[in-house]
Amino acid sequence: MNDKKFYITTPIYYPSGKLHIGHAYCTVATDAMARYKRLSGYDVMFLTGTDEHGQKIEGKAKEAGVTPQQFVDDIVAAPGGVLDLWKLMNISYDRFIRTTDDYHVAAIQKVFKQMYDNGDIYKGAYKGKYCKDCEAFWTETQLVDGKCPDCGREVHDAQEEAYFFRASKYAGQVRDLLLNTDFLEPRSRVNEMVNNFIDCEGGLQDLCVSRTSFTWGVPVDFDPGHVVYVWLDALFNYMTALGYQNGQYHDVEAFWPADVHFVGKEIVRFHSIYWPAFLMSLGLPLPKKVYGHGWLLLDGGKMSKSKGNVVDPYLLSERYGVDALRFFLLRSFPFGSDGNFSNELLIQTINVDLANDLGNLVSRTTAMAEKYFGGTLPEGAGATEAERAAAAVAVAGHEAAEGALHGEGCQFDGELIGLAAGLRNRYEAQMEKFQFQNALEEIFKVIQRANKYIDENAPWALAKDMEANAHRLAHVLYNLLETVRVCTVLLTPFMPESCERIFTQIGADQSARTWDGAARWGALPGSASVTKGENLFPRIDMAKELAELERIQEEARKAALPAIEIEPQLEEKVDFDTFCKSDFRAVKVKDCQNVKKSDKLLKFTLDDGTGADRQILSGIAKWYKPEDLIGKTLVAIVNLPPRKMMGQESQGMLISAVHTEKGEECLHLLMVDDAIPAGAKLC
Ligand code: MSP
Repeated sequence: MNDKKFYITTPIYYPSGKLHIGHAYCTVATDAMARYKRLSGYDVMFLTGTDEHGQKIEGKAKEAGVTPQQFVDDIVAAPGGVLDLWKLMNISYDRFIRTTDDYHVAAIQKVFKQMYDNGDIYKGAYKGKYCKDCEAFWTETQLVDGKCPDCGREVHDAQEEAYFFRASKYAGQVRDLLLNTDFLEPRSRVNEMVNNFIDCEGGLQDLCVSRTSFTWGVPVDFDPGHVVYVWLDALFNYMTALGYQNGQYHDVEAFWPADVHFVGKEIVRFHSIYWPAFLMSLGLPLPKKVYGHGWLLLDGGKMSKSKGNVVDPYLLSERYGVDALRFFLLRSFPFGSDGNFSNELLIQTINVDLANDLGNLVSRTTAMAEKYFGGTLPEGAGATEAERAAAAVAVAGHEAAEGALHGEGCQFDGELIGLAAGLRNRYEAQMEKFQFQNALEEIFKVIQRANKYIDENAPWALAKDMEANAHRLAHVLYNLLETVRVCTVLLTPFMPESCERIFTQIGADQSARTWDGAARWGALPGSASVTKGENLFPRIDMAKELAELERIQEEARKAALPAIEIEPQLEEKVDFDTFCKSDFRAVKVKDCQNVKKSDKLLKFTLDDGTGADRQILSGIAKWYKPEDLIGKTLVAIVNLPPRKMMGQESQGMLISAVHTEKGEECLHLLMVDDAIPAGAKLC
């Protein structure tokens, strides 16, 4: 039995539409954390899921003409849905909860009843504002410019009989939890919570926890017509998924309290105020930590799928690879703050860190091991006893190792080995604080140092005199392979598949891939067999790629446009006599040509039955080639006053049918039966 347990959660997602890269951000971070903990010897429970009740979902289902259950099933479980996305992104969750799961619904009913029985839930009437998108109640004073303070959308008046949770009773305890413990991080979020919601005018308000104006929720079993407020329902997922108040699972004892809930900043309020208050009401232990991460922004604003497929994780994974995308998300933005997503930044990160630094290091090292030694370094290439011992010292700080190794007289070895051997500790310190960006920075410092070590030692120069230098050359390559190995172990939580491939290329067996191995210089046998594999992270041509994304974006925009649009009919009536004044005739095309210097106009010579040729100019060159129209029978209005176009006279107008298709203007000349003689009047 492993007594090192770690329970981590993501928020459960509203399946109200497709997820975007901002949603993937939190889940990838949670996955990296879960994998890191597993790597370092923990028995991990990683929970994610979907939050499927509420007015918003009910409304969306109605719009789509399906039941709410069908609606959420489609977004969660259908191809291309939430489950598929997490599979694609290699999310190693241990459990997936849907709040419509029977065991959860039954447990929520018990929780609600228990709080009612202990007096913390009471019946009253709600009157105030409600934001349907955030499923949040607000008082008039909490609104910002009359809008929802969380999402900025319109709020609606809400008035109904409702149950309330006595949050006010727990205000002091929650305040103390926030101010005097490390429960909520980053620390910068604490004051906002305390000042705005606890120490505000009127103090912490009781929370409305039931609704009667819609039905898509967990029914309050002792009061038909009420459904449980979606946030109470959702927050308890963290416990019901372990088996709290149900027989589905039996993991409460092993994993509760949670070690950390990762949540986006806009839902910190629910997690750091109401969630602990609910648990206090039931006398349950509180989670150890809530970490409120920042948002990924698009052009400085909140991201949404409607902003287009530049934020579609499917598209981005397909183009750049899942690992590159996962890496980018955690390498480019500090987890606790907002970050601006852009395609440029994504491509640049892939090119600089993955293609140039890591990719080059791996491909140069493996290529040289193959070229100079056929993939297997000669005996004695591996770590020396002195190096192993010095590296062990370096686990505490690399300066000591450098000192020990300089005694050996191998230029630069001490610096590289010291830096690489001490990496695991520096990385661990950052990972424990959820500072993914800094942890990756530590790894990349070592990777950059290793690339410099190649240039310093110039293996290609050593290879010119193998008799004299074979031993040194082999040792240089070994040091590089070892550095790659250590970095790869620590990169595994971020890029599991690519790391697997690197391990294969450098010939690292399972024991060399472990957490222990990451702090043990020399874990790679000197005789490991190295194979240069395919390029792990191909360089992307930035300008070409951005242009291609632009094109894809434009195509998607068009595809989202209505299939066929036609102009609305005119309201204004025309009297019969006026209409009869328009003289429409069948005309035959005798000749048709492009008009010089115009890419729009065609010039028609027409037989209108009068014996004299009629010339009409028409702006339809975009749709027709002149030669295709010769001999056709068309319809023209012939009593319009003549007008000049591009210096030539047009005597009337040809009649066409027009509409818009996917945003494109479409035109069809009206062509009639060729049996109709030229000049026949249309009436
Ligand atoms: N259903 C609630 C959570 C209930 S947890 C008991 C919810 N769902 S959500 O689908 O709207 O959001 C899920 C998570 O995605 C939130 O933590 C939210 O902050 C996060 N993100 C949504 N857009 C985001 C970005 N653009 N950037 C980073 N995270 C974002 O809230």
